[in-house]
Amino acid sequence: MKGGYDHFMQKEIHEQPESLLQTMRGRVQFQRPAVGNPYLTQRVKLGGLVEHGATVSRCRRIMLVACGTSFHACLATRQTLEEMCEVPVVLELASDFLDRRCPIFRDDTCFFLSQSGETADTLRSLEYAKAHGALCVGVTNTVGSAISRMTHCGVHLNAGYEIGVASTKAYTSQILAITMMALQLPPPRVTKHTRFPPPLPPPAPQAYTSQILAITMMALQLAEDSISKRERRDCIIDELGQLPGKVRSTLMLDSAMLELAESLKGASSLLFFGRGYNYATALEAALKVKEVALIHSEGILAGEMKHGPLALVDKHMPIVVIATRDGMYKKMESVIQQLLAREAQLYILCNEGDESMKAYEAKGCKLIQVPETVDCLQPVINIVPLQLLSYHLTVLRGLNVDQPRNLAKSVTVS
Ligand code: UD1
Ligand code: M6R
Repeated sequence: MKGGYDHFMQKEIHEQPESLLQTMRGRVQFQRPAVGNPYLTQRVKLGGLVEHGATVSRCRRIMLVACGTSFHACLATRQTLEEMCEVPVVLELASDFLDRRCPIFRDDTCFFLSQSGETADTLRSLEYAKAHGALCVGVTNTVGSAISRMTHCGVHLNAGYEIGVASTKAYTSQILAITMMALQLPPPRVTKHTRFPPPLPPPAPQAYTSQILAITMMALQLAEDSISKRERRDCIIDELGQLPGKVRSTLMLDSAMLELAESLKGASSLLFFGRGYNYATALEAALKVKEVALIHSEGILAGEMKHGPLALVDKHMPIVVIATRDGMYKKMESVIQQLLAREAQLYILCNEGDESMKAYEAKGCKLIQVPETVDCLQPVINIVPLQLLSYHLTVLRGLNVDQPRNLAKSVTVS
């Protein structure tokens, strides 16, 4: 069952090159199409979005609703959706969404992310949004789950069973699924907002040919609508093809993370600083560490550092700073300098071959070097060594990896 691994969490971390490939299988055309061939311009095709894709593109607001790790996947992909769809994207923790009875409109599109597809608060939020007339899109790993059945449309992750209570491979597949959605959904060509149309009649046998027609038209329309974004989309799709291989080489950091865990196993607190795409990485790494290794841990938005968290920093405080090369790089470098000035024990997660970051080794910092990819996919790679770190911390502390105390895999009551 554990395929030679000691624990399910360990197995699931190491399965990620394959689970990511499964999430993309049959949905992404990795080869760039021949120039001038309009029928091959749609390089991402999620079957589950075909019917309602145009409605999503025309909506006034996208809401991403989830709990726990699935919420972090929402945070990691928000910027990509905003960039590709040019629609405001808001994030909602399902419990808070329900507590507030958040206002919902008929021209909202609500995405519900859930590995299990059964999480009570996410499911109740879906019922609420559906009753208020929003288009409801599921992103689930479990075919036939309540969320998969109740949403109007959606995408299955196809990442395979996740058994360890700590979610790992579902997280990286969720990031991929939303990124693929963003690539598939073009910005609205007509900015006039329309209402959510009435439900379609049940599919008839001829629906098949209509679907083929719809897909062909969509492919043509996508190419037409998004010329200004085509280069960026091509670049992201090219990197999707490289991603499983890059995650595989990131997994080679396993023994380095075991060594790091040896030095951190006695820590009473561990902080993770990130911003931009990697604020989600900081939150998710902290959740993993507290959930399984039972060490107090916080993910901190680096931009908020001076508004409180800096007071915690001294020479006894271990901090992981996520400083891979993206638009936030310079700002993260300045964060590193400010933390060093307070003598923090720094572990810098940076890209391989980054000479500027290497210079910090002389100042006592330790580097975690990962392969580079396009900015919006970098969180998929960056979380991997931190998953390994939390796994090794847990084993070294003699704790239950797959069944952490007080937690259940699926939270089916609020
Ligand atoms: C589907 C088939 C897959 C087949 C492929 C071939 C299923 C589950 N998937 O995959 O076996 O190889 O076509 O074309 O039969 N959905 C929701 N909510 C969710 C998730 C999905 O409503 O949370 C809906 C989708 O809108 C879609 C259906 O479930 O109508 C299947 O979704 P998905 O498995 O993602 O579709 P395909 O990748 O096209
Ligand atoms: O099945 P879901 O994705 O809806 O679960 C949501 C959370 O309960 C879940 O991600 C939880 O936070 C994990 N144990 C985190 O590792």
